[in-house]
Amino acid sequence: QRPPVVLGIETSCDETGVGIVRGTELLANRIASSMELHARFGGVVPEIAARAHLEELQPTILAALADASLTLDDLDAVAVTAGPGLAGALMVGIGAAKGLAAARDLPLYGVNHLVGHVAADVLSGEPLELPTVALLVSGGHTSLLLVRDLAGDVELLGETIDDAAGEAFDKTARLLGLSYPGGPSIDRAAVDGDPAAIRFPRGLTAPKDRDRHRFDFSFSGLKTAVARHVERAEAAGEPLPVADVAASFREAVVDVLVAKALDACAAHGIPRLLLGGGVVANRRLRAVAAERCEQAGVALRIPPLDLCTDNGAMIAAVGAMLVARGDAPSPAGFAAESTLD
Ligand code: KG4
Ligand code: ZN
Repeated sequence: QRPPVVLGIETSCDETGVGIVRGTELLANRIASSMELHARFGGVVPEIAARAHLEELQPTILAALADASLTLDDLDAVAVTAGPGLAGALMVGIGAAKGLAAARDLPLYGVNHLVGHVAADVLSGEPLELPTVALLVSGGHTSLLLVRDLAGDVELLGETIDDAAGEAFDKTARLLGLSYPGGPSIDRAAVDGDPAAIRFPRGLTAPKDRDRHRFDFSFSGLKTAVARHVERAEAAGEPLPVADVAASFREAVVDVLVAKALDACAAHGIPRLLLGGGVVANRRLRAVAAERCEQAGVALRIPPLDLCTDNGAMIAAVGAMLVARGDAPSPAGFAAESTLD
């Protein structure tokens, strides 16, 4: 049996993503982002994101088809992110996917966005092993998940109670006078720094947090600690040791992310951890995760970096696996699910 050709649409946040796969083979992955439109508001504005999807989706679908040298006639199924995400943004993608599927009489699969992040890994040629613990870290999210099944059986183990990890990088970079986005610029500044120079706080790791917040994250205290450091240097008229602060900050973030992810693996008896989201671009995060997973006997999976951020190919990959295992398409009336449950 020939692997199914599936077009996947992702519009849960600010990226309009359209990917095409043949089974687990990546044929196209087009992304149009409305990130710049949101920059001056300091966060994604839902209505602006939805309108941008409406403008970008059709050209992005056509571009993806052209990249794959395919036409709509070649598709076996359509997959679309059903949630979680911004309701209005999701509805643009779902509406388009329903129209396309109806017009071409194709089966349509509503896909869980978080399962999509995990499934991105199959496009690098690796088999998908479930259940797995997944750590998704981006500008909008810091979530620790237990993903049990392709069809959307996902349990949220914990998440940030204030800033997302990427947001912490962005805000801290601004405090240090480094450019946006903060992740890459802190990574660069940290190269010559000593990660042990300053012992910054590790949020929600105190014994008292173990009951309620064992798998949750908090980065606002860390950001405040960096701000204090900057103020103190200014007041003393001393130059700020930017490289040391950047390296120590990065170490504090990476330390808690990896420690809590591995604690989740141990608590659930699952020797598998998958990383996803834009913050995975962080070299130190990848290095520390690799080192500690090895020590803990946990298999670490990191999809290719361009598939770690939101994209349509990962949604198409889930669709192709659902088709291949014979799952029924989603009911015609399925709607956007803005939250996880
Ligand atoms: O998943 P993503 O591309 O998009 C959204 O969250 O919308 O993630 C972007 C985030 C930004 O906060 C950026 O600072 C962070 O990922 N990021 C990094 C690195 N590269 C990007 N954070 C830490 N280290 C990096 N090298
Ligand atoms: Zn995502």
